[in-house]
Amino acid sequence: MQLEDIGTVGVVGAGTMGNGIAQVAATAGYDVVMRDVEQQFVSAGFDAIDRSLDRLVRKEELTQAEADRARGRIEGTTDLADLRDAHLVVEAVTEDMGVKQSVFGDLDDTCGPETVLATNTSTLSITTIASVTDRPDRVVGLHFMNPVPVMKGVEVVEGEKTSEETLALGRAFAQAVGKETWDADDKPGFVVNRILMPWINEGVRAYDEGIAGKADIDRGMTLGTNVPMGPLELADHIGLDVVLDASETLHEELGDRYQPAYLLKRKVAAGDLGKKTGAGFYEYER
Ligand code: 3HC
Repeated sequence: MQLEDIGTVGVVGAGTMGNGIAQVAATAGYDVVMRDVEQQFVSAGFDAIDRSLDRLVRKEELTQAEADRARGRIEGTTDLADLRDAHLVVEAVTEDMGVKQSVFGDLDDTCGPETVLATNTSTLSITTIASVTDRPDRVVGLHFMNPVPVMKGVEVVEGEKTSEETLALGRAFAQAVGKETWDADDKPGFVVNRILMPWINEGVRAYDEGIAGKADIDRGMTLGTNVPMGPLELADHIGLDVVLDASETLHEELGDRYQPAYLLKRKVAAGDLGKKTGAGFYEYER
């Protein structure tokens, strides 16, 4: 499979990452089939795409006609069989190995033998996900960043059996949808989350231990190191449940230096998951 052979892209999962990936692929001219398990999730994915495209039109990064064409290229479905003709599929379901393996097993049965299967996993092993398929050489990590339509980078992750051809295709596809790439080996957290998650957890601990107020911690890191968001604001943006899942995987695989902060666990237990629930470390209008 070469980049030129890709006409239809499948996206499994219409949540934050999935709808963003569907949007950038459609904007780049691909026909996209976006699948989630229930119609309400598919509809919510389309709502997010509409809001995001509107925002890009307002910012004059897209014309209304380009946005309309992109929107028209995305088909929604709850039936995985509708991905049968996809040339490349990006999986963006929940960060649970069992769920991802089940999706990959089904995709392996559904899609043609040449189809490349990519996972957007943030910390889980590409090799373990690929092991349930008969095509581990055609499985690759394509780790997009949130918010997908705005962030410029994609991490390309090589599993134990990923072929050079699949890696090259993964890089070429990410570039075709307007992103720049870097390579990472299949080790927990790859590059970004291996470094980002301890940074966020240290920010949470600093807040919990009274080093400074939350706004001062975020101001300190944004003004002091020129990043767009401080650790607490960024955690709310990503979703505290996503941060905790990623942190727990890193802790399990890499030991004590990756222990998630206590206050992060307490917030998730309380259901305060960040922007998406209206409260995390900060409060948000919904
Ligand atoms: N589509 C979707 N969301 C968009 C968007 C678009 N076209 N444009 C902006 N956003 C989002 C922002 O998240 C935020 O949400 P809200 O308004 O709904 O509350 C809002 O829109 C802010 O919009 P602005 O136009 O005011 O913001 P800016 O253009 O100044 O920048 C930002 C927003 C790009 C998110 C910037 O703050 C930033 O770069 N922050 C850091 C983001 C980051 O580090 N992301 C990577 C996280 S790690 C990751 O994703 C890996 C995963 O595995 C955990």
